[in-house]
Amino acid sequence: MNDLDQLVAAAQADFARAATPADLENAKARYLGKSGQVTDLLKGMAALSPEEKKTRGAEINQTKQRVEALLTERRAALADAELQAQLKAEALDVTLPGRSRSQGGLHPVSRTLERIEAIFGSMGFDVADGPEIEEDWFNFTALNTPADHPARSMHDTFYVDTKAPDGSGHLLRTHTSPMQVRYAVQHVKKHAAALAAGEAIPEIRVIAPGRTYRVDSDATHSPMFHQCEGLWIGENVSFKDLKAVFADFFRNFFETDDLDIRFRPSFFPFTEPSAEVDIAFASGPLKGRWLEVAGSGQVHPNVVRNFGLDPERYIGFAFGMGPDRLTMLRYGVNDLRLFFDGDLRFLSQFK
Ligand code: PHE
Repeated sequence: MNDLDQLVAAAQADFARAATPADLENAKARYLGKSGQVTDLLKGMAALSPEEKKTRGAEINQTKQRVEALLTERRAALADAELQAQLKAEALDVTLPGRSRSQGGLHPVSRTLERIEAIFGSMGFDVADGPEIEEDWFNFTALNTPADHPARSMHDTFYVDTKAPDGSGHLLRTHTSPMQVRYAVQHVKKHAAALAAGEAIPEIRVIAPGRTYRVDSDATHSPMFHQCEGLWIGENVSFKDLKAVFADFFRNFFETDDLDIRFRPSFFPFTEPSAEVDIAFASGPLKGRWLEVAGSGQVHPNVVRNFGLDPERYIGFAFGMGPDRLTMLRYGVNDLRLFFDGDLRFLSQFK
């Protein structure tokens, strides 16, 4: 090994010993600095003959390049080591499970409403939606319940301090029955030309689910509760159809044929005759108990007239059922208020 090779080997060992970039710069100075070994060799060339300068000069230059290459290599290695150390120190464990947000679910009553809509939808019923702050006219008067009618007292509710266009008041609707009138009036308007020409118009077949309000609060009554109205009007719609619709609906809703339905005579100002609808399960914890699930009846001629239809020609039935009660029965819940407390311990059981 000649002196130049030895110098290169020494530089390599020196650079390898340098553990930090600062150490390495110090080691570099010993070779390539102002009075470094390579620099000294270059200076020494002044004393050489032109012949020697050529060969020795080339060798020294080569040596310089080799030392520089070793330096660059070691610099890169140190920088890389530093980066690796930093990455290791700041490591993130991306495999840790995240903090997931707990997933919500549909409210049990919303589930019931969806079921009701799906089942009636399959029977050709439209689904309608209307205001919860209702006009006195739609909630009572148009439903054959004039201002002095005693039936109004059964529907004590929350009155609002504003006046409807007809001068009557507003109130939180006490039932979904006003939707019978709102929907039928729209339907009649849509078919006004056919009606005027004395032609038959398409049947009205609609349900209207939504929130309703009454001054009432105990385990089975809440001041805010749900109803689902139903209305089927045509030229030849009878109580027989109402019975068939209910039989279909309840057997579908509760997913059982082991279910009896009975109609109990009752009174509503807007239907005549009227009936309460009860169901009884043939098995299960409620076996044999009659449970009231809806009010119903043949739509009163005065109401058909308020729809804008001739009661001599158009006839049909209406019903109003309680989705909250249906939900209690379906899931075995015994206190209605649980649905509206917003307690997640209760609600999350329905996810
Ligand atoms: N609106 C009645 C109630 O709230 C129920 C009902 C609707 C009865 C339609 C007959 C026809 O009690």
